[in-house]
Amino acid sequence: MTQATPREPRAGRAFLWGTATAAYQIEGAYNADGKGPSIWDTFTHTPGKTERGETGDVACDHYHRWEHDLDLMAEMGLRAYRFSLAWARILPQGRGAVNAAGLDFYDHLVDGLLARNIVPFVTLYHWDLPQVLQDKGGWVNRDTASSFQDYADVVTRRLGDRVKNWITLNEPFIAADHGHVSGEHAPGLHDYKLYFPVTHHLLLAHGLALQPIRENVSGAQVGIAFSLAEIQPATDRDEDIEAATRCEAYMNGAYLESTLRGRYPALITEQMPGDLIQSGDMATISGKTDLIGINYYMRLLAQAAPTAYGGFTIAPWPPGPRTEMGWEQYPAGLAYWVQRLATDFPDHDLYITENGAAFPDTLDDAHQVHDPQRVNYLREHTRAALTALATTDARLKGYFVWSFMDNFEWAYGVRPRFGLVYTDYATQARYIKESGRWYARLIEAGAPDDI
Ligand code: FCB
Repeated sequence: MTQATPREPRAGRAFLWGTATAAYQIEGAYNADGKGPSIWDTFTHTPGKTERGETGDVACDHYHRWEHDLDLMAEMGLRAYRFSLAWARILPQGRGAVNAAGLDFYDHLVDGLLARNIVPFVTLYHWDLPQVLQDKGGWVNRDTASSFQDYADVVTRRLGDRVKNWITLNEPFIAADHGHVSGEHAPGLHDYKLYFPVTHHLLLAHGLALQPIRENVSGAQVGIAFSLAEIQPATDRDEDIEAATRCEAYMNGAYLESTLRGRYPALITEQMPGDLIQSGDMATISGKTDLIGINYYMRLLAQAAPTAYGGFTIAPWPPGPRTEMGWEQYPAGLAYWVQRLATDFPDHDLYITENGAAFPDTLDDAHQVHDPQRVNYLREHTRAALTALATTDARLKGYFVWSFMDNFEWAYGVRPRFGLVYTDYATQARYIKESGRWYARLIEAGAPDDI
């Protein structure tokens, strides 16, 4: 009997090391060249919605500085870049008339990436719904899903010859929950019952978009980027173990099971209004996809609570290292997701479409940003992911750091800095942080322990 030699946790040459961003968080130019307002424009312009009243009106001004940003990506040796399209820049009315300048912007961006040998991954929806569609009910209105299908058709016709990797939705759970239940994100609604129609219509939008993507993009690789927290019971009491099962159904199961197995967890369907799911919907929602995007930041400890929404709450983490967001650092959860998805859905490619951390970075007099905490965070998380890859034969094909540069972190404004590149908002100058230089070396070496 020969003993298997453990393989080193190393990524092959084809592994796609990249970074991720989202349109509203970096572009600025919120009303330039015919762009229509999105729900995030409305939300941030409403007093009291963001931490210091900040908006994404300018953000990183990437709309005007994209060439320089792409040069920095090339300097860091990035192999892939995940970004999102601002739907309202392309279709200011949500559907119908195309704003040529908006579509041109992304066309040039894609060409710029390809010219630098950086593989584009396009997210169609990273939370910035055109306001005109919100005025007609937004994701509570089933018709929004068919507007999304039209939007997917318009952009894949234009970009599909060059962009092969498509993410339909970013984190549908967060869009449903933060946007419509807790209200901390746009459109700022606060009614737990909205979780059900919003979830179903987002997923229907995903399913409907698959058709134009397949038609317009030969060799398309399509999927969703899910927000995947590892859910554990806060204690070993039976009621907390049950709470963890419910929490899992709400946050993860509703999205994974529906899109990849064609059914919602029973706990979710039991509470859905009877007329919500129409005949054929589940087949549409579970149309063939190729990849699963893992956005990983944390584990969550679920605890029984008499809440109308799910019957659980989230317990505090035990003492240990945190990020500036107050989030526990828990790299084992990333390995957990790679292993679980590789086992449950072995016919899908896996990408870690987001992982990263905010720390209170400062720029010194020599324009250096010394951020050893982020280097450590990235080393531990990439090691966890690559170890899971080596031990499970997972089809893990890439890893994207959130984020390429410091940007507008939703309701927190620009305070939390997640970037590998420091953004000086006063001057819009960018500086590669130490972690960005470390990541460049990781891309070269393929293994976080070799550098
Ligand atoms: C994710 C979002 C991303 C960013 C990071 C920190 O949930 O997709 O836009 O806010 O968290």
